[in-house]
Amino acid sequence: MSRALEHPRYNYKVVRQFAIMTVIWGIVGMTLGVTIAAQLVWPELNLGLPWTSFGRLRPLHTNVVIFAFGGSALFATSYYVVQRTCQARLCSDRLAAFTFWGWQAVIVSALITLPLGYTEVKEYAELEWPIDILLAVVWIVYASVFLGTIKRRQTSHIYVANWFYAAFILTVAVLHIVNSAALPVSAMSSVSMYAGAVDAMTQWWYGHNAVGFFLTAGFLGMMYYFVPKQAERPVYSYRLSIVHFWALIMVYMWAGPHHLHYTALPNWAQSLGMVMSIILLAPSWGGMINGMMTLSGAWHKLRTDPTLRFLVVALSFYGMSTFEGPMMAVKTVNALSHYTDWTIGHVHAGALGWVAMITIGSLYHLIPRVYGRTEMHSVALIAVHFWLATVGTVLYIAAMWVNGILQGLMWRAVNPDGTLMYSFIESVEASGAGYVVRTIGGLCWVVGMLVMAANVFMTVRQPQSLQRAPVQATA
Ligand code: HEM
Ligand code: HEM
Repeated sequence: MSRALEHPRYNYKVVRQFAIMTVIWGIVGMTLGVTIAAQLVWPELNLGLPWTSFGRLRPLHTNVVIFAFGGSALFATSYYVVQRTCQARLCSDRLAAFTFWGWQAVIVSALITLPLGYTEVKEYAELEWPIDILLAVVWIVYASVFLGTIKRRQTSHIYVANWFYAAFILTVAVLHIVNSAALPVSAMSSVSMYAGAVDAMTQWWYGHNAVGFFLTAGFLGMMYYFVPKQAERPVYSYRLSIVHFWALIMVYMWAGPHHLHYTALPNWAQSLGMVMSIILLAPSWGGMINGMMTLSGAWHKLRTDPTLRFLVVALSFYGMSTFEGPMMAVKTVNALSHYTDWTIGHVHAGALGWVAMITIGSLYHLIPRVYGRTEMHSVALIAVHFWLATVGTVLYIAAMWVNGILQGLMWRAVNPDGTLMYSFIESVEASGAGYVVRTIGGLCWVVGMLVMAANVFMTVRQPQSLQRAPVQATA
């Protein structure tokens, strides 16, 4: 089958591999999400074992959804977009294959080491030093394949989606290498090169830019290619997209201290992070509006095209989470939201509503094309998936908003004599209903991903007669 699918001009093999793994890792990562969500309702599900405890499965969830699911989606779409917009084949098939197998090796290493308890204890950078080195090597090769392909382009200019992908690739390399600098003390343990407040600042400079570049800039690259393609309209404003790009990458870098409000970090740094976060609203919304307005004259397509619905709802959630983020960065608001489920709600408005939705919309566009099919096996199943994902996201984030504000208010409530009105455990009890609703929302997502897997499977297995012919037509 793979020979018949060889594209005469582009390397679609690696795109297909990463696309399929995105679906598989999506199912694994979200199932882990539902598991830890359920553990917060029924602690017996920790099974009394260290390997299956919340503390070990939580970082596994974040690593699988961000790096395995999100990362594979970024590899798949960036390799697809860069080839098509540069009208050039990837500069090296072998190096591209290396990035695929290398990236899967990083993920499998995470799946083994995190439940065993090996961790550097830095959020989103938990992996121990040997895996960090492998990750850095794979990433540098990724950068060389992506930039090397841009270099051999047949077009005169570089399409804006590639600017976003390139910024994401280069920045993640710098963030990962700087933040993971550590002194190995044994085969699977190390000590960070930084200490105290410097360690915290470096970690959240990394952490926030992981959000800004891994979970945002790369996915904006997806938006700039797949929204116009699926809507069959040009980008609303190319000029705005350039302003969007430069403004976003210049402001994101400074916002990290909003994760460290009211800590040992100098006050001026906290205020700088707060101000930069508020400024960040402008480029974020500029980009969101540019994506939305691309639909001008094509809104009617939303009635019949669930793939486009995924892309547009993703943009709405992007707008929502990038409005919420700057608000939460205001110190007085953060005094209420920090440590509560409000943060978790914000995270998943971005992660599910934006990252997962834009990924899935893009994959429904890309998969039939790289498999030489005319369209996905079932448009009705895409619509089912769309509703499961939308309802799941709304249940998740609404439950976390209620829980978050409830917890924040309970923790700060004081009696007239100055003693606390509620004990911590009372706030945990009050959160129970929200945790159940969140678990149901997560289950909707997992079922939706299984529907997607079935649809993808049927698409790939479609008989020859339904194939897009000839394959060159996709060029
Ligand atoms: C079925 C869908 C999902 C469910 C049920 C779920 C559930 C959870 C739960 C229960 C937590 C721990 C919350 C806590 O510690 O109180 C969590 C954390 C997290 N999840 Fe998910 N998740 C899902 C999908 C995703 C996806 C797709 C992404 C990213 C693309 C994601 C990114 C994260 C991140 C970054 C955190 C850490 C948040 C923080 O530390 O503030 N999740 N998730
Ligand atoms: C203008 C854009 C944004 C701003 C200014 C912003 C701001 C914030 C703030 C203030 C927090 C809470 C920090 C704390 O109290 O600990 C936070 C947490 C977080 N945000 Fe955002 N946010 C933005 C967009 C996004 C998007 C689009 C995503 C996901 C795709 C996202 C993912 C996260 C994650 C994962 C955390 C939790 C970090 C942790 O504590 O583990 N954010 N954000």
